[in-house]
Amino acid sequence: MNILVVGGGGREHALCYKLAQSEKCEKLFCLPGNPGIAEIAECVENISVEDIDGIVKKAKELAIDLVVVGPEVPLTLGLADALEKENIKVFGPKKNAAILEGSKSFSKNLMKKYNIPTAKYEVFTDATAAKDYIKKEGAPIVVKADGLAAGKGVTVAATVEDAIQAVDAIMVDETFGSAGASVVIEEFMEGEEASLLAFTDGETIIPMIPSQDHKRVFDGDKGANTGGMGSYAPAPVMTEKLIAEATEKILKPTVAAMKKEGRKYQGCLYAGLMITSEGAKVVEFNARFGDPETQVVLPLLENDLVEVMLACAQGNLKNISLSWKKEAAVCFVVASKGYPGSYEKGKVIEGLDSAKNAGHLVFHAGTKSKDGKIVTAGGRVLNIVDMGKNIREARDKAYDGVALVKFDGAFSRKDIAHRALERE
Ligand code: AMP
Ligand code: GLY
Repeated sequence: MNILVVGGGGREHALCYKLAQSEKCEKLFCLPGNPGIAEIAECVENISVEDIDGIVKKAKELAIDLVVVGPEVPLTLGLADALEKENIKVFGPKKNAAILEGSKSFSKNLMKKYNIPTAKYEVFTDATAAKDYIKKEGAPIVVKADGLAAGKGVTVAATVEDAIQAVDAIMVDETFGSAGASVVIEEFMEGEEASLLAFTDGETIIPMIPSQDHKRVFDGDKGANTGGMGSYAPAPVMTEKLIAEATEKILKPTVAAMKKEGRKYQGCLYAGLMITSEGAKVVEFNARFGDPETQVVLPLLENDLVEVMLACAQGNLKNISLSWKKEAAVCFVVASKGYPGSYEKGKVIEGLDSAKNAGHLVFHAGTKSKDGKIVTAGGRVLNIVDMGKNIREARDKAYDGVALVKFDGAFSRKDIAHRALERE
């Protein structure tokens, strides 16, 4: 089969790495890809992941049998719909199902209607009404822009003043454009977070192993929120009992609800969970694989990923059972100085071959080729991943790998997986 992965970050590198292992994968393409991905797939540059017509045209030209969509934006723009019209199989939800990530008010209203556990909330299109509600409820309280805001639309406010400021930023200053036309104001949930990703064909849903990412930029979960500074799997906070409970009370009802609403959901359903004293509750849904969760989950999957994704696309996931390596995986993100604020690009990266030759998985997140060298091209530059018999062993190995890659201004967190290690 000819397979095309859409996207060009660490998540897509991990997807390509796993897809390339399949005997069913004859030719692998990635759009736009990156220099790391280029070692295992043919990169299709100069087409944007948001250019739906351009992607469909290219997929036809390359006789693609299966398209795997990495990021959320093309899904919310209707890439899956457009590919299906051309009879090209796709892993990823259609536009009317990707709204589960694309609109927080949609997903909150769905959860309320179908009794899926989540934080108490109200939706507002009027800033004054939103602020009155905040004053009535008090802090801590959480303010979220309704639409896609590249992970930056959420404020966990410790005070009423901070929450009101967040409403102004979203609704008055329109920091996130039309994504802020309405806001969700939500009860603050106390607990540990976990990511539970699942494969679904719209009927059957099968959870992957649970993982955890590290959203804050500095050690000890301090500093600004980022796209994720590291991850590990399996996350011990999600016990067998909690996974079973989340499957019955969250994953299965959500897929059934989407079908009932005429929005059959197919692809990867990402449930961001808070493990509260009352059990697991949904923080958010994403319509795609997590980044950097994918980088630790997929290396532990024993199944042929092409087979699993085809089953999702074709509606026969009930015939599949997943099996997982009895190991753990840890991912360190190596980032550019200044990230998640502004940072310089174009720094030459050294040590990529030494890290690979020493057995580390090196996924490229933000790199490009320039004059025969590989240079930095993003805030999150590299993902160093290792597996081991347990989290500690995987963490120690990956941390050794981090020391092998070098560029001017490189930094990473040192305490990835600390919550799992504290449980030991
Ligand atoms: P989201 O983009 O919805 O995942 O929110 C970003 C982050 O904000 C989450 O990963 C949580 O750490 C935090 N967060 C979101 N909603 C809540 C909530 N209701 N209670 C506590 N923390 C939250
Ligand atoms: N790791 C968080 C996300 O992918 O949204």
